[in-house]
Amino acid sequence: MGYQFELIGFPIKHSISPWIHEQFFTRSKLQGTYIKNEIELNDSFSGKIIEMKAKQIDGFNITVPYKQRIISYLDEVDIIAEKMGAVNTVVNQNGTWKGYNTDGKGYLRSLESKFSAFGHDKSIHILILGAGGAARGIYCALTEEGYMHIDIANRTMTSAEDIAKLANDKTSTQILSLEEAEQLINHYDLIIQTTSVGMKPNIDQSIISLASLNKPIIVSDIVYQPLKTNFLQQAENAGAQIHYGHSMLLYQAQLAFEIWTGQRVSTENLDHELQLILE
Ligand code: ATR
Repeated sequence: MGYQFELIGFPIKHSISPWIHEQFFTRSKLQGTYIKNEIELNDSFSGKIIEMKAKQIDGFNITVPYKQRIISYLDEVDIIAEKMGAVNTVVNQNGTWKGYNTDGKGYLRSLESKFSAFGHDKSIHILILGAGGAARGIYCALTEEGYMHIDIANRTMTSAEDIAKLANDKTSTQILSLEEAEQLINHYDLIIQTTSVGMKPNIDQSIISLASLNKPIIVSDIVYQPLKTNFLQQAENAGAQIHYGHSMLLYQAQLAFEIWTGQRVSTENLDHELQLILE
C-alpha cells in the first residue's frame, strides 16, 4: 500500500503540496499517497484528529490555521518547533506522533540551493521584514544555524520584540520600524520579506521602498503569488540578486518527506517546474 501522508488546513483546495510530494514519490521510487484533508473552521478539529489516528497514517503536514492548535494532540515536539510554537509536519512513529517545523530550515535550504556562497559566512547582516509566523520560523532557523546579525523590522514593533526573545547568545538583533529599515537597507547583505504585503491582488504594494538600494545584495520575498512581487522587481531594478518565494515551499516539503521516509529526494529542476505551474 505504501506510505499514507495527508495535508490538513483551511483553505487548502489550491495547495501545491500534493503535486510536490507526487514528484518526490516518483523520484524516490517509494510508493505512497499524499492527500488533502481539509478541516473547515466549524468542523470538530479533535474529531478529525481522532479519525486520523484511527487511520494510522504515516505522517501529515499542517498549514494555516492549525499550526499551533495541533501541538496539544502530539506526543512529542521537536525542540525547534517548540521554540517556534508552531508545527507543520507530524510523523507517526509506531503510534507516537512527533511534530516538527520545516518552514525555517526549508527556507534556508532554498537559499543555499540558489546561492552557493550562502551559508558560509555567519557574520552577514540580515534584515527580516515582518514578525508573523513565517518571520518567526525563519528567525529561529537563522539563529540555530549560527547567524549573528539578524534585525527585524515590523509595523508593530512589539511583535518583532517577541521574536527577538528567541535569540541565542550568539545572535545580536535590533528591532526597527519599517521607516528605519527603509533608511538602512544598504547596511544589509540579505533582506527577507515575510509579510503578505504585495500578494495578489495587491500586487502594486511593497512593504518598504528599495529605491535607495545600491549594493548587489540578496533580496528574498516569501510571497509567491505573483512570483515576481513589486518588492522583488524593485530589488532587481537596483541590481540585487532576487530569490522567489515558491522555493521555500519546495524545500520545506523536501525536509518533511525526509522526516517521514528517511530519504532526501533531489529537487533538481523541480524549482523551475514549480515556477512554471505557479506563473
Ligand atoms: P504569517 O503567519 O503568514 O507570517 P501573520 O502572522 O498574519 O502571517 O503576519 C503577517 C505579517 O505581515 C505581520 O508582520 C504584519 O505586521 P503587523 O505585525 O504589524 O500586523 C505584516 N503585515 C500584514 N499586512 C501589513 C500591512 N498592510 N503593512 C505592514 N505590515 C503588514
